Amino acid sequence: MYNFNYFTPTKVVFGKNTETKAAELIREFGGKKVLIHYGGGSVIRSGLLKRVTDSLEAAGIPYITLGGAVPNPRLSLVYEGIALCKKENVDFLLAVGGGSAIDSAKAIGYGVTNEGDVWDYYDYRRTVSACLPLGVILTIAATGSEMSDSSVITKEEGLIKRGYSSDFGRPKFAIMNPELTMTLPDYQTACGCADIMMHTMERYFTNGGNMEITDALAEGLLRTVMKNAEILVKDPKNYDARAEIMWAGSLSHNGLTGCGNDGGDWMTHKLEHELGGLYDVAHGAGLTAVWGSWARYVYLNCLPRFKQFALNVMGVDSAGSDEEIALKGIEALEAFFRRIHMPTNLRELGVHATEKDLEIMAHKCAVGVDGAMGSAKLLREADMLAIFQASR
Ligand code: NZQ
Ligand code: ZN
Repeated sequence: MYNFNYFTPTKVVFGKNTETKAAELIREFGGKKVLIHYGGGSVIRSGLLKRVTDSLEAAGIPYITLGGAVPNPRLSLVYEGIALCKKENVDFLLAVGGGSAIDSAKAIGYGVTNEGDVWDYYDYRRTVSACLPLGVILTIAATGSEMSDSSVITKEEGLIKRGYSSDFGRPKFAIMNPELTMTLPDYQTACGCADIMMHTMERYFTNGGNMEITDALAEGLLRTVMKNAEILVKDPKNYDARAEIMWAGSLSHNGLTGCGNDGGDWMTHKLEHELGGLYDVAHGAGLTAVWGSWARYVYLNCLPRFKQFALNVMGVDSAGSDEEIALKGIEALEAFFRRIHMPTNLRELGVHATEKDLEIMAHKCAVGVDGAMGSAKLLREADMLAIFQASR
């Protein structure tokens, strides 16, 4: 078991009608002038944005708004947000939406409080020393960004999608009302479930320092997400299933399911970031499209964990060799992805990549991880290319 830090400073306010607490929470965390940051318009159509702005007005809290954060949020909007915050003396950010609006808000927060070009942080050239305080009203259970230290931004020039992690970026509060996720398209709900699972699986398939308590939490979380994701395929308005998934999303990426291990594998995410950058695919779907190829490429190097996953999470029959059990686990998870209508290869994802495209992605991925990365198996550029090729 490795030493670990567990830092989850976010105040979670969970349940029906909790969005009515936004003004109170902003005051609690010292906000005097707020930028409300949101995405492409779902919060306008659902009426949520109006309810939030009405409540801020009623509480006498001045605010401005900036919409337009797209899935795979763009650097240009971050720059716009930074300039706006500086001009308007904004001292608090409120992201209303999903991972894209939250991540874009985190980047704006870094840009306002640190000198120089904010992209430097995503390019691993500098580290931040502050962030504007940030609150979240979550509308999709997926990334866990509402409690995580991460922010993922895409630079238009070169289509480079990169993540940056800092404890300064962890939100002060997260309002989570599962009812707000009921307007999601089924595809986005499923993408979210896939992403949630993957945040725990990235931490699970490692070759270093595993703890029984962490495994029990991780395996329970994965089983719960699978069960409730299937309920939502048939019954998308099921409040309890939405609530289970929403809380799982936060727990999956706030560090809890990785305590004591070596930090996780994270290569499925790194491979997806190339797909998201180049083809602008939904993050969760990009993950499921490459996961099976990644798993088959690395499982022999991490066999005890793949066997444990097969038995404890996927509930496969324990007959056969370790290798056979591990492979049955991989197949069972792919079958689950299909049941929730997620792709299991690039073709199903709608990506028809040429060999050259795959080479470009593998190269960018290798550069992004400084040559090599992975705990289940250390991967270099040639390995990344082989996985992309196998996922076609
Ligand atoms: O933009 P709007 O109009 O709001 O529509 C969004 C978007 O089209 C829509 N949506 C969200 N809530 C809705 C809704 N539609 C109807 N009703 C609602 N209640 O769903 C679409 C997806 O939203 P988005 O915020 O992009 O989804 P998600 O939360 O999956 O975020 C994806 C981004 O987060 C990054 C991903 O790479 C991707 O860029 N990630 C961030 C992480 C983090 N910060 O910790 C970790 C993840 O691994 C991930 O990389
Ligand atoms: Zn993710």
